[in-house]
Amino acid sequence: MVKAADFKNKHFISMMDYSREELDYILSVADKMVDISKESSDLAKGKVLGSMFFEPSTRTRLSFETAMFRLGGNVTTVADPMTSSAKKGETFEDTISTISNYVDVIVMRHPDSDAALRAKKVAKVPYINGGSGTWEHPTQTMLDLHCIRYAKGKIDGLTIGMVGDLKNGRTVHSLLKALRHYNVKVYCIAPDILKMKQEVLEAVKGKVEVIEVSDLTENMPYLDVVYMTRVQRERFTSQEEYDKVKDSYVMDRKMIEEHGKKDVVIMHPLPRINEISTDVDDMPNAWYFRQVGHGIYARMAIIALALGLWKD
Ligand code: CP
Repeated sequence: MVKAADFKNKHFISMMDYSREELDYILSVADKMVDISKESSDLAKGKVLGSMFFEPSTRTRLSFETAMFRLGGNVTTVADPMTSSAKKGETFEDTISTISNYVDVIVMRHPDSDAALRAKKVAKVPYINGGSGTWEHPTQTMLDLHCIRYAKGKIDGLTIGMVGDLKNGRTVHSLLKALRHYNVKVYCIAPDILKMKQEVLEAVKGKVEVIEVSDLTENMPYLDVVYMTRVQRERFTSQEEYDKVKDSYVMDRKMIEEHGKKDVVIMHPLPRINEISTDVDDMPNAWYFRQVGHGIYARMAIIALALGLWKD
């Protein structure tokens, strides 16, 4: 049986590190955080979160920092990589070793896909992967699962569409890996050059039914949840290649009304560019801004567990 102590002092690196029971346990702690986030908690009193973001972020950084404040802890932050000594040439490993002396838990976003795995080898305090290149964004998945469960009342039995940049999108890599533990069908909807990474498909092979297609309209009627993603301009080496695919899919009111299930849930890790038209925003199907709110609960749970502050 999974216990809080199983997560104490553990890094949070990849969705491949967790069993179904462990994911469900973290989600159950996130459930408890819904009420705790509304009160003033002193669970993390005296503890410090080191928040290090070497790539831009609005949601992940601010929700982690807010989560720590809601738990009664403190935060020290690097939001602009130009102000850290990495700019003077300090190695990534030395940066992690240094911060380990100052704080009780680290959350970091980094442009390198191997950053989280490298950090794990040197961090002396729990290291939380806040997005590692195009590899994984596992805390996003915890909030996504929490939001899906809240919106649909379950995860098992659903048909989920992942749409857009499935090659470079670290959110969908983590989400598909987590879904290997659930009884779901996943439509991966992408143009040829942005298809789901082969290594992720290999990781879930035989565990989740994945259907790879390129047409959204045709497959929209089957979907209970549609997880839209941004085409990641920063991962392209050529503007021409980006321009070819940047508008591949646009979710709008007409698409939902004419092709979607009445209660289809539209999600997006955000930021959006134009993948979801603003005419969807006031539809009951629009979950993406409510999805953001689940980030506080999921990240409060992850911090409290990593610090060993949560008791069964
Ligand atoms: N979803 C997400 O990672 O958003 P940010 O890039 O704003 O953190």
